[in-house]
Amino acid sequence: MRDVLPENMPVWQRLEGTARHLARLFGFSEVRPPLMEETSLFTRAVGEVTDIVEKEMFTLQKGKTSLTLRPEGTAGVVRAYIQAGYAKRDPLQRMYYCGQMFRYERPQKGRERMFTQFGVECIGSSDPRLDAEVMDLAARFFEELGLTGLEVRMNSMGDGEDRDRYRDAVTEFLRPKLELLCELCQKRFEKNVLRVLDCKNPACGELSAGAPVLIDYLGEENRKHFEDVQSALRDLGREPCVDTGIVRGLDYYTRTVFEIHAPQIGARSALCGGGRYDHLVRDLGGPDVPAVGFAIGFSGTLILLEQLGLLEGMRAESAEVYVIGFSGDQKAEVLKVAADLRRGGISAIYDVDERSFKAQMKAAGKGGHKFAVIIGEDEIERGVVQLKDLEAKSQVEVARDGLVTAIQS
Ligand code: HAM
Repeated sequence: MRDVLPENMPVWQRLEGTARHLARLFGFSEVRPPLMEETSLFTRAVGEVTDIVEKEMFTLQKGKTSLTLRPEGTAGVVRAYIQAGYAKRDPLQRMYYCGQMFRYERPQKGRERMFTQFGVECIGSSDPRLDAEVMDLAARFFEELGLTGLEVRMNSMGDGEDRDRYRDAVTEFLRPKLELLCELCQKRFEKNVLRVLDCKNPACGELSAGAPVLIDYLGEENRKHFEDVQSALRDLGREPCVDTGIVRGLDYYTRTVFEIHAPQIGARSALCGGGRYDHLVRDLGGPDVPAVGFAIGFSGTLILLEQLGLLEGMRAESAEVYVIGFSGDQKAEVLKVAADLRRGGISAIYDVDERSFKAQMKAAGKGGHKFAVIIGEDEIERGVVQLKDLEAKSQVEVARDGLVTAIQS
């Protein structure tokens, strides 16, 4: 888990700002569920036989309650949707979140144990335009940041009977290779065979190559939905790229699934994952309400921004003004001037270690401030200050009570 230090904050604020701006443009409102939920919520939503639930949850026991730091955002948002009673009073909800998630993963490029996701969840409709719209929103996020060349890949996971038929086909495909699969996949074969297809073990990946693909098993309704999503994407000016290899690592998906990849960042290159989850609200105890959403991870996004040199220019902001006393005798006046500036809406700091005038000037010059305000004995007597423009390197004398206006202008 990493600190985000003040010097790195502008980049994070830029990512969060872009997320919030786009979410609002698409009519999404922010939701902030707690960082912890009862463990059973994730077991039920994400699925017992998944990497997240089997290996990656930070769980703690408090009395009789088992709590888990959220490994993803969808389960908590759906729980909140049910608990707030939206299904009865206002079923179509477009919600977004930006916050920390926790997974006990092996740290590697773009994967951390605490990471930030920007996610959206559109709950209450199965209209294929919404699938296309959230894919468009996710792609827009990267485009706004200046990232190009990303691959938006989509697939359909089908639903109900299609999935049962597909599961049978995958079982038959893998059965002859069962003993060659990793130990975990041998168990998964029995409990949830589709999870074998997204095992991160390269040997299992090879054994799964050539497995049946779900879109060959889609029933008429789900096939039409998949086609309608693609046609809506075209209406939005994006050419769909179908990748039958996308299966997603969470159990709640039905029909549309998609990922956005940046192949430059290596094997685990997904910057975004999402899709439809039409039964999750019902499975978590709510009414039968369909939904679609995605989450973008900031860690991978940052690596890519850095690789492409797009982080330059995103510098931490310094206070606008550095207030300098000619000697220690002007301490009180320095404090008052800084306070007046702040009251006037201008950010200001001052030296606190009684450093020499020269040292203070040096600090002002190095700190990225726009102005230095210099106060000596003579200035106090005459009710003025020296205002130095640190960029233009020019200096003017201004009346003490006209300082805020002088800086503003
Ligand atoms: P996910 O694919 O598990 O989906 O995660 C989405 C994105 O979060 C990934 O593509 C990746 O960029 C990022 N991510 C995941 N794990 C880590 C990690 N350990 N370190 C850094 N980044 C990570 C979900 O979480 C679903 N809840 C998405 C969703 C929302 N589906 C529907 N609605």
